[in-house]
Amino acid sequence: TGQQTTTATSNDATQDSAFLKACRREPVPHTPVWFMRQAGRSLPEYLKVREGIAMLDSCMMPELVTEITLQPVRRHKVDAAIYFSDIVVPLKAIGIDLDIKPGVGPVIAEPIRTRADLARLRDLTPEDVPYVTEAIGMLTAELGATPLIGFAGAPFTLASYLVEGGPSRNHERTKAMMYGDPQLWADLVDRLAEITGAFLKVQIEAGASAVQLFDSWVGALAPADYRRAVLPASAKVFDAVAPYGVPRIHFGVGTGELLGLMGEAGADVVGVDWRVPLDEAARRVGPGKALQGNLDPAVLFAPTPAVEAKTREVLDAAAGLEGHIFNLGHGVMPNMDPDALTRLVQYVHEQTAR
Ligand code: CP3
Repeated sequence: TGQQTTTATSNDATQDSAFLKACRREPVPHTPVWFMRQAGRSLPEYLKVREGIAMLDSCMMPELVTEITLQPVRRHKVDAAIYFSDIVVPLKAIGIDLDIKPGVGPVIAEPIRTRADLARLRDLTPEDVPYVTEAIGMLTAELGATPLIGFAGAPFTLASYLVEGGPSRNHERTKAMMYGDPQLWADLVDRLAEITGAFLKVQIEAGASAVQLFDSWVGALAPADYRRAVLPASAKVFDAVAPYGVPRIHFGVGTGELLGLMGEAGADVVGVDWRVPLDEAARRVGPGKALQGNLDPAVLFAPTPAVEAKTREVLDAAAGLEGHIFNLGHGVMPNMDPDALTRLVQYVHEQTAR
């Protein structure tokens, strides 16, 4: 039913791709593969074009975004591209003073900690991110039948950066607000859900064929707290883009205990890290959803026979799934050998050719 509701702007040439078929739980010619953080510092051609340009500046340069997004597709022959950007780009676009510090991550000049601070989180409109619309238009023309995945940070993960002021190991201030002032917390994640939903809509309207919501750090929560304090906001994001009918992927790290709830939030595809085998993940998620994952990224540092053996384990655990998209359990690491990634794509394609 999803296809009838896609907009005229979405890229019809991509509909028969293995990636979108797997998202829809239809038979595929081979298991599709892409890698979270496939564009970036593991590629010498990326380091070359980024030289002298700050990360956030690069996200606002459509030609550069197009080139960087295409690099891993050309090199590795992955089954999908992911739009080159960052989870904090929509926050920057609405005027939050922030930067991405190399080797650190997003840093917020004035953290959001009080009710008065919420006023700084205004609505996002397409006019705030013209470079996104422009870059995706260029990209879909270049990509042809290869789907483009749009993405955004989920309300919890964005809230953690905003409240802490930067990356955090234990999310102390975030949890202090969540437990200590539940109404302020609910209003904060609701604001972020509005912004995130609007940002994903811009990407779909421009031609993205699927979207992924990254709740990278939500594995820090117990299921009951997730259900009460996070699920309603993430569900609001998924509901906002539901009318487009494009597949919605939901991913977090260390979320073994949350997989069922993350599906319940409204995902069509649930991303799984390497800690839960995919057959067990399928039992936790329940029927009617595809799974994405889940090779431990660190395995790529081992010799090829070990990579292949661990990959075979993932494929065996995925054998009975309704739909499987092969990915790593988290992102590509900067010091990874790009050739190992290219070989991995080939190996999965060969092993799963039907
Ligand atoms: O996947 C892709 O190839 C698309 C690009 C992408 C980036 N960030 C580019 C980037 C995506 C999907 C993201 C999402 C993102 N950003 C997440 C969710 C994914 C995940 O890994 O869990 C998170 C938590 C962030 C926040 C963030 N931005 C971090 C932790 C960092 C790394 C900081 C560092 O230098 O170690 C960034 C910066 C960033 N985002 C880089 C890239 C390529 C590196 C900066 C650079 O190349 O100069």
